[in-house]
Amino acid sequence: MKGTNDQAVAQRVLEHVQAGTTDTVDEVWREPVANYTSATRLAAELALLRSYPVPFCPSAALPEKGSYVAREAAGVPLLAVRGADGKVRAFRNACRHRGTQVASGAGCAKAFVCPYHAWTYTLEGKLRHVPHEEGFPGLDKSTHGLVPVHAEECFGLVFINQEAKTSGMDELPVILRPDQPIYATTERELNVNWKVFLEGFIEGYHIRFTHPESFYPYGYDNLNVLDFYGRSSRITYPFRRIEKLAKVAPEKRRVEGLLTYVYHVFPNVIITILSRHTNVIILEPLAVDRTRQINYTLANDPGEAALAEAKRDQDFVGNTGALEDLAVVTSIQKSINSGANDVFTFGKYEGCVVHFHRQLDAALRA
Ligand code: FES
Ligand SMILES: [Fe+2]
Repeated sequence: MKGTNDQAVAQRVLEHVQAGTTDTVDEVWREPVANYTSATRLAAELALLRSYPVPFCPSAALPEKGSYVAREAAGVPLLAVRGADGKVRAFRNACRHRGTQVASGAGCAKAFVCPYHAWTYTLEGKLRHVPHEEGFPGLDKSTHGLVPVHAEECFGLVFINQEAKTSGMDELPVILRPDQPIYATTERELNVNWKVFLEGFIEGYHIRFTHPESFYPYGYDNLNVLDFYGRSSRITYPFRRIEKLAKVAPEKRRVEGLLTYVYHVFPNVIITILSRHTNVIILEPLAVDRTRQINYTLANDPGEAALAEAKRDQDFVGNTGALEDLAVVTSIQKSINSGANDVFTFGKYEGCVVHFHRQLDAALRA
């Protein structure tokens, strides 16, 4: 087993630079194009997203007691909230009177008051108050709390498993530190299948050709380090300036600013750790050809100076490489029903994509 800490990754990169090689996988994967266009397949993927521990938001999105985030996950309105005891809980976001969602967006609350008739729930989900309660003779408030779903904080993320009592997520390194501030939260909808969009983040075979003037001048052609964590994975994109570490003793090597880590947290979350900022990208499938992208952007360090640097780097990436990626995935989506391909072929240099499809197939079969 190859080492996966920063020093081991730096060493693996330097060896690839020297040898002109990259990490590969043994298998070539042929993914049926029907798996990107079939409503039945999408329904199975959504069912998986409801029965699997899926990152819902960064822990930093719930910074204090009463902080909450409400959104749909795999088509189900959910509400995650940090309780008075500091623990994160999650609920189906539906009032127990007649189903109105009790919270929307994100914010900080002392209690959740349903906007329809003001049934009121504590941060722990207990039904605390019913206006004109005598209108509901025999109502047992103790059995009419918000319906909980399993939530757990790990690696700097809040995971929700809608249908199980435990999370059972992959063993990942700590990805986000608690002192990293979130400075932007955005949402947009893309006319792209969620998997087509996801695949573009986790292979470096395209860097030279898709990003000739944005990323490639700083990076390499097809030189990546791949690591697998259960169903999840991480791809490392080194910058050419990492070569200066060859002169630094291995145990003293610091990789900050010298590479980008991209985590794929199975099934539908990508976390890109760039030099100054980190993006948590959640892909919510809406239809076979439509995806909601929820983005949390965090500075890599606290403080004003770190924030300014993070924003500058984010502008560069967002205005160059990210647009180039969007153009190719949109192009794929437009040709997907053309009949040209029965399968898409992922080669040995697209190892994290191969891993993703192999794991997704296995998870759907389980
Ligand atoms: S639906 Fe919530 S109080 Fe009536
Ligand atoms: Fe790209």
